Amino acid sequence: MTTASAPAKLILCGEHAVVYGRPAIALPLADLRAFASVEPAAPGAGLRLVAADLGSAWDVAANPERPLSELALATLAYLGRPTADLTLTLRSAIPIASGMGSGAALGTALARALADWAGVALAPAQLSKLVYASERRYHGTPSGIDNTVVAFEQAIWFERGLDDRRPTTDDRAASASPSGRSSVVRRRSSATHRSSPLIEPIAIGAPLTLLVGDTGVRSATMLPVGAVRERWQAEPAVYEARFDAIGALVAQARVALATGDSALLGRLLDSNQRLLEQLGVSSPELERLVAAARAAGALGAKLSGAGWGGVMLALVTPQTRPAVEAALRAAGATQVLATTVS
Ligand code: MEV
Repeated sequence: MTTASAPAKLILCGEHAVVYGRPAIALPLADLRAFASVEPAAPGAGLRLVAADLGSAWDVAANPERPLSELALATLAYLGRPTADLTLTLRSAIPIASGMGSGAALGTALARALADWAGVALAPAQLSKLVYASERRYHGTPSGIDNTVVAFEQAIWFERGLDDRRPTTDDRAASASPSGRSSVVRRRSSATHRSSPLIEPIAIGAPLTLLVGDTGVRSATMLPVGAVRERWQAEPAVYEARFDAIGALVAQARVALATGDSALLGRLLDSNQRLLEQLGVSSPELERLVAAARAAGALGAKLSGAGWGGVMLALVTPQTRPAVEAALRAAGATQVLATTVS
């Protein structure tokens, strides 16, 4: 049996704006993982996928349109082993629809397990590309940040490439703006010459600790992403300005991380939360946890991921960590995780 795994992810800052070409910073959560194992099956059995946590199993040949089937088939084709008699079992400790990249982690573990079984070393960039195609099946216009940070498993600065299908105002799927106007939206110039994503490691000047509080509310990524797209189509100038402001604070956050200036980083996380509220992707549950963390001494706090539920993060010091953790639980967090970035 061959087993592989992939981590959950956390977006430190820049979510949503990253879909529109601005930068974002993301981190892997090494202790929270998805797993895939591959076992040989009887000759002629074909490929069977078992989603152990969901209690569901299916033959890929009979369900080729399912996103995980598509990913398995694309991976096997890439590996030059299009026909295989295998049972592929998936398990995950990452809550689904929580903002922590459970889909990207499962897909990455699956592709890694197949590559290991085939004896092929898949480079992170190739792995990420395979999983990106399946992420698009889940939420249409993903930036690619989730599959990238999960495949590279390190803190990254990410800007999407122009080859990836980003939202446009011609998007038939969501072209009707509430006002019925058609609008012309300025394209980002910074990325116009770059076809593939920009992925850079992030320098960390001093270790920092983040607490991750789960609202317990599950929200599929595509819903807030779709809502932002509709609002952007209705009021492009307003939303472009908000995306620009987010992009600018992400650039400052990179400097704060490199210099170990956690007070500045905390303020930037707070500003990012305000802008995410203006994008309309926050929620009362998220804001309750954010407010509790700040009141208990966190240097900054914000939602993380697509929003409307899922998780938030709080930047803490060794001194404030116990109080912030207790405050998050008292404010209703169903789970609190800690991660140290160094
Ligand atoms: C989801 O983890 C992050 C979003 O920015 C969507 C994306 O980048 O594809 C909300």
